[in-house]
Amino acid sequence: MTRALRLIAPAKVNWSLEVLHARPDGYHEIRSVLQTISLRDTVTLTEAAEITLELTGEPDMLEGNPPAQNLAYRAAVALRERAGLRKGAHIVLEKRVPVAAGLGGGSSDAAAVLRGLNELWDAGQPKLNLVEIAGEIGSDPPFFVVGGTAIASGRGDAVEALPDAIAPSIMLAIPPAGERGEKTAQMFGALKPEHYTDGDVSIGVRETVEAGRVIHDELLNNVFEHVTSRMQPDAERAMNALRSDGYSPHLCGAGPSFFLLYGGGADLADVLARRIRETGFDPRPAHVLRREQALRIEEL
Ligand code: C5P
Repeated sequence: MTRALRLIAPAKVNWSLEVLHARPDGYHEIRSVLQTISLRDTVTLTEAAEITLELTGEPDMLEGNPPAQNLAYRAAVALRERAGLRKGAHIVLEKRVPVAAGLGGGSSDAAAVLRGLNELWDAGQPKLNLVEIAGEIGSDPPFFVVGGTAIASGRGDAVEALPDAIAPSIMLAIPPAGERGEKTAQMFGALKPEHYTDGDVSIGVRETVEAGRVIHDELLNNVFEHVTSRMQPDAERAMNALRSDGYSPHLCGAGPSFFLLYGGGADLADVLARRIRETGFDPRPAHVLRREQALRIEEL
């Protein structure tokens, strides 16, 4: 019988994102507390002779990108090489997480493929190896191998699991597709030494999480908010509009998506969603996803 597995590939937000310094290898040393959230892609893996990739859902999100460049495809090839296997799999990615928006969608797909194929192929790689292979694919995939709430250091590739954070509801604000691009390198490049911090914000978030206290706005900080006005003026405009209403928007990763925390019910969500829509962004309600939920593997 042909085996098949299904996994979710959740998006993330950064509770904190700090840059400590520029590194000689061209990357930046970061401290970040990351969190998987309910917005997700779905990854289905079926045993096959070759590695193939199929996109469904909102696949036009990835239009023009050859499969060999897709992080999920590269993850499958990297695991096969590392484990010395001669197996294949048909990978179906059901895309829901907007790409190049700071939500980690492509990185999460790659991590789900690593975790899933490790099972499907009986590759027997310990989690540490999966984190290492994920780090060869990019700086963000290692976090998604761990999932839940975690603190990342190095270029993002050294990840330590934290207890699941307790947080209010999350409202994401997603920019129109045409206004996104691969901006991560430019965003890092736009930072100046005066934006660098010592990691204290992340330590504060970590302490709150470890004490089981609820995440709140005053704790959070994202270094890229120093450069959004220059690099992502539409995001800056939308965030400023919400700030003038008394909300506290926070950039997602290197942007240009952002998120707001809100307590309470559907009424508040509606008001907030309407305000976000007025700024030209697309509101998406979400909530934190515990590690156990983020890492579940379903046998089909
Ligand atoms: O790791 P990834 O390929 O996603 O990084 C894309 C680019 O973002 C890197 O080439 C680098 O310019 C920048 N980057 C950085 N410091 C990090 C992560 C990424 O400068 N910690």
